[in-house]
Parts: sequence; structure tokens; C-alpha cells
Amino acid sequence: MQTIDDPDTIQRRCESLRREGKTIGLVPTMGAFHEGHVSLMRRACAENDIVIVSIFVNPIQFGRGEDFDSYPRDLPGDLAQAEQIGVDLMFAPSAQAIYPKGFQTYVDVTELTTGLCGASRPGHFRGVTTVVAKLFNLVMPHRAYFGQKDYQQSVVVRRMAADLNCNLEIVVLPTVREPDGLAMSSRNTRLTPEQRRAASVLYRSLRCADEQVRAGEYSAKTVLEEVRRTIETEPLARIDYVAACDPETLQPLDYISGPVLIALAARFGETRLIDNLLITAS
Ligand code: PAJ
Repeated sequence: MQTIDDPDTIQRRCESLRREGKTIGLVPTMGAFHEGHVSLMRRACAENDIVIVSIFVNPIQFGRGEDFDSYPRDLPGDLAQAEQIGVDLMFAPSAQAIYPKGFQTYVDVTELTTGLCGASRPGHFRGVTTVVAKLFNLVMPHRAYFGQKDYQQSVVVRRMAADLNCNLEIVVLPTVREPDGLAMSSRNTRLTPEQRRAASVLYRSLRCADEQVRAGEYSAKTVLEEVRRTIETEPLARIDYVAACDPETLQPLDYISGPVLIALAARFGETRLIDNLLITAS
């Protein structure tokens, strides 16, 4: 596996791979790999001739006062893991290379980004879509891989790719969880042992919602109250939001009569975690 940090070099390499007729899969990440990242890399390796993984802790998707400085980083560990999985090329640029002096062009998906994490993290998705658009331009992949754990991100990126004629397939893979149900996240390493134990309440609360909906509860308010009540049994959890939305438009639903996305965010100390469950039974 070769590691490249220069955008022009990766672009030239990808252009020549494409000319040779190779299919290219891209897995954009911020590193500090866990099994969620691994699942994306493995699928990409199974479906493409060449797999490119990017590691870039993207400063512009972090708000002021957010955890950019303390975001977990482990480049040597990540490189070893990617190599073992069979990744062909690692793109690990500096912030300077991605946002050189004078940079002033941003990609903004306007509507899908207003609610959920977009409401609590203004500017976050603009940072995500800007860097992902740049990665798509540099690599020109046939397929790009994202996780359902960041459900809103996957919907926003899909919209951007369609709106900007990116001409690639967006593949979204299921959330990989710890044995107690906690969604894997690079940020989990920042939890104290007590917070880590407490954090399993998030998935339990989503399971409660699932049971209620499957039992025929159609009032989103009733379902969300139960989700809140469950999370509030855990004194270390502070809820940011819980929501029931249309899985495509992300608009809040009052009544559940078909597929519904239950999405939530909560803080444990300084660490903000998100999770969601797509419930398709009606
Ligand atoms: P990061 O948080 O490193 O995640 C990289 C990819 O892994 C994302 O598509 C994310 O949804 C997926 N992922 C994270 N946890 C997962 C889990 N438990 N199961 C399955 N997939 C999981 O998301 C980002 O980076 C950034 O916003 C990025 C898209 C790279 C843009 O900077």
C-alpha cells in the first residue's frame, strides 16, 4: 500500500488507473479506525479493482468549541490496518494541501442539512460536502462508501452527488455495533469507563422505539417520549435531540405510517454521540 499526501499526485494516479479500465472504490474517513471503517474498506475491496482510503480530519466540519484538536488520531495504526485489509492507496493530505491560502469555495446542500445534526452543528455539513466533493474530484471513484451510522451525512452526500452530477454510486452500509449495542465511533475512545457503560442506553432507547412502532404505535410523540425516558434513566447522558423523520426528506413526522428514521444525539461529558435506527415495518 502506498501513502500519498499530495492532491495532484493522487489525482494523476487515479486518472491513469481509470484510463487502464480499473474500477475505483473510495472510502472517505477521518481515521482512528474501528470495525465500522473496516466494514466499509472490506466491502470496497470486494467490489472494486482499486481501493483508495482517505484519512483527513477535516477542520472545516468542526465548529468553534468542538473537538477538532482532541479528535482521536492514529495514523501509523490506521496504515497498518488498511494495508492488512488490502487497501491499495492511502490518501492522507495536510489541511494546508486541501485548503491552500485563498481557498473560498464551498458546497452547501441547503434543505437536508437544516434539522437533526445540522441544527446543533451549524456549518458542519457544509464542511462535509465541501471536502467530499473535493475527494470525488480528486479520485473520481466509481463507488464511494459511507456508513448508516451517520445517516444524515449519507443522505446529504447522496443529494450532493446527484445535484452535482458526480457520476458515481454511493454505497451505504449498516452500522457496526459493540456487543452491548453502542454504535462504533472513533469518539468512543474518549469516554471514561463509566460514560462508556452509560452510553449503551442509546441503542436500548432505539430498540424501545422499534418495539413500539412494530407493536402499532403511530404517534411519533409517544415513541419519542419513550426514547427520552429511556435515555434519562442514565444520569450521565444529556440529550441533544431525539427525532422521528421521513428517511428520505428527513422532515419530522407526527404520525408513523411507513418507514421512519429514529435519530438521536446525546452527550456524555464532553463527548457527543449519535445513533439512529431505520424502522421499516408499518
Ligand atoms: P468518520 O467519522 O471517520 O467516518 C468515516 C465513515 O465511516 C463514514 O461514512 C461513517 O458513516 C462510517 N462509520 C462510522 N462509524 C460507523 C459504524 N459504527 N458503522 C458503520 N460505518 C461507520 O464521517 C466522516 O468520517 C467524515 O464526516 C467524512 C465523511 C470522512 C468527511 O470528512
